[in-house]
Amino acid sequence: MSKVLDKKKQEEDSFEESIRPQELDEYVGQKEIKENLDIFMKAAKMRNEPLDHVLLYGPPGLGKTTLAHIIANEMGVNLKTASGPSIEKSGDLAAILSTLEPGDVLFIDEIHRMPSYIEEILYPAMEDFELDIILQTDGKSRSIKIDLPPFTLVGATTRAGDLSSPLRDRFGIVNKLEYYSDEELGQIVKRTSRVLEMPIDDDAAVELARRSRKTPRIANRLFKRVRDFALVLGDGRITLDIAKKALDKMNVDAFGLDSIDIEYLSSLINKFNGGPVGVETIATSIGEEVTTIEDVIEPFLLQEGFIKRTRSGRVATQKAYKHIGSEYVGNLFDM
Ligand SMILES: Nc1ncnc2c1ncn2[C@@H]1O[C@H](COP(=O)(O)OP(=O)(O)O)[C@@H](O)[C@H]1O
Ligand SMILES: [Mg+2]
Repeated sequence: MSKVLDKKKQEEDSFEESIRPQELDEYVGQKEIKENLDIFMKAAKMRNEPLDHVLLYGPPGLGKTTLAHIIANEMGVNLKTASGPSIEKSGDLAAILSTLEPGDVLFIDEIHRMPSYIEEILYPAMEDFELDIILQTDGKSRSIKIDLPPFTLVGATTRAGDLSSPLRDRFGIVNKLEYYSDEELGQIVKRTSRVLEMPIDDDAAVELARRSRKTPRIANRLFKRVRDFALVLGDGRITLDIAKKALDKMNVDAFGLDSIDIEYLSSLINKFNGGPVGVETIATSIGEEVTTIEDVIEPFLLQEGFIKRTRSGRVATQKAYKHIGSEYVGNLFDM
């Protein structure tokens, strides 16, 4: 990654860090997950045991990393972080595991991208808090067992389907994060405004919420940009007028679709007659990775009813045609 991009990413990360809720009570929405976690954490504390392993899955930006931090904070333990692709050798995993103290949370992000031989080392670590590693010395291999303190593994993934079932089965608590309602996003925007001490009018918060692709990360990013407009064009307060102007300038449309969503839908409708068409074909046509399309773009378009998945491929709905401003001629899959 270039230095400039690196710096930008660091800024983005520290911004997210600064507005991340620390406690379960501050975490907006995901009611069922919150209620269950609350009980499980209380019970674990009463038994003086670490929380059972937790798997969090769902599209990016919905609050998986935030929940992992909250779990460690609420349990009063350390959080150690790793990401699937960064654990390449068994030694990498052993190094992380050996730093754990009793009850700690080990957060593995993008856990579906962990190599399978690393997964196999994780199984006994998760089940029996034991590490079996094979040491190579003088051409001979020797297996040793190391006892680990009891810990909680929190895994996060955008693709639960890519986890092997033995790994998935070792998580006692499995949670799917859902897209947020406009009202919940409004609360998140209001909260961010309080934390950053940048006032926002209620109607402006509603507008931001509506246009955030049902995703807290996007709501917060838009807030950050809109805040700049308010500073320069207004007196610092985010009004509806300023929010609308800023959002239009950023090409966020009234449904919260961004330019990649629009490109996807236009391609589906204009180049492929609304489908059905395979995801690989769309990917080539708009120059995006298949995984990005499947993990980021499509879940939202499906949930909002812009597209349907059929056995022969993706199909644009009437709502998509209307949105793109193209005449809808109907298709086989409407029936
Ligand atoms: N339920 C929530 N309540 C308040 N803020 C949230 C919530 N979920 C996510 N956020 C905010 O959105 C941002 C992105 O969340 P994050 O946990 O990093 O998403 P993920 O790990 O799923 O990609 C965080 O900075 C956090 O402030
Ligand atoms: Mg994350």
